[in-house]
Amino acid sequence: MKKPVIAIDGYSSTGKSSISKVIADKLGLIHLDTGALYRGVTWFALQNCTNESGSIDLAKLFSSLEQIDLEFKNNKGELILFLNHIDISKQIRTNEVSDNVSLVAKQKEVRDFLLQSQRNLAEKGGIIMDGRDIGTVVLPNAEFKFFLTASIDERTKRRYLELLSLGIEADEQQVKHNLIERDKIDSEREIAPLRQADDAIVIDNTNLTKRETIDAILSHIQTI
Ligand code: DC
Repeated sequence: MKKPVIAIDGYSSTGKSSISKVIADKLGLIHLDTGALYRGVTWFALQNCTNESGSIDLAKLFSSLEQIDLEFKNNKGELILFLNHIDISKQIRTNEVSDNVSLVAKQKEVRDFLLQSQRNLAEKGGIIMDGRDIGTVVLPNAEFKFFLTASIDERTKRRYLELLSLGIEADEQQVKHNLIERDKIDSEREIAPLRQADDAIVIDNTNLTKRETIDAILSHIQTI
């Protein structure tokens, strides 16, 4: 039997990736965190495509896209992102990347560059992909679509604790500001904006634990 294709979209820090990872393990699916791909391109740009003031030079980035080779490798169940064969899994979580990723992700050139590889990965089925435009643009025919949301204060708390656990210094107000700013850019951009697909199941997990959110998703997958 062909394994399903599952799309999980939603706001920043609603737990999309960590929840998708657990569901993937449980159902024997591949998990692709598409946000990590946009973060990988942003890290590349910060290293290689900046102007004198240190900000990203988009024209330079567009002409360098073909030099970017992003690959996930499996390390004991953990997917590690490599950029041109170098592990960048820690670098892509830094504040520097978080502050610049939405600008990079709103560019058509960047989205086109990442689109086909995401679709290719889903061709054989058996995948759960999380992001912002998976149910609407990348995989409009996914069998199951979920859209996760939660209050800004709850999401701030989660991201703040995540950063601390990664050993990254953080200021809670700054984290909140970054989330609001990113959601605004992601929702208002012209190409593939963050939007709930018409046929997505919405889950507000402000007052749900990670386990309860996973159970809510699984209940839909297993009852259909
Ligand atoms: O899920 P995340 O916070 O790691 O995503 C980082 C950024 O990448 C987010 O601000 C929006 C962008 N993104 C996107 O535009 N489309 C996706 N499918 C996934 C992420």
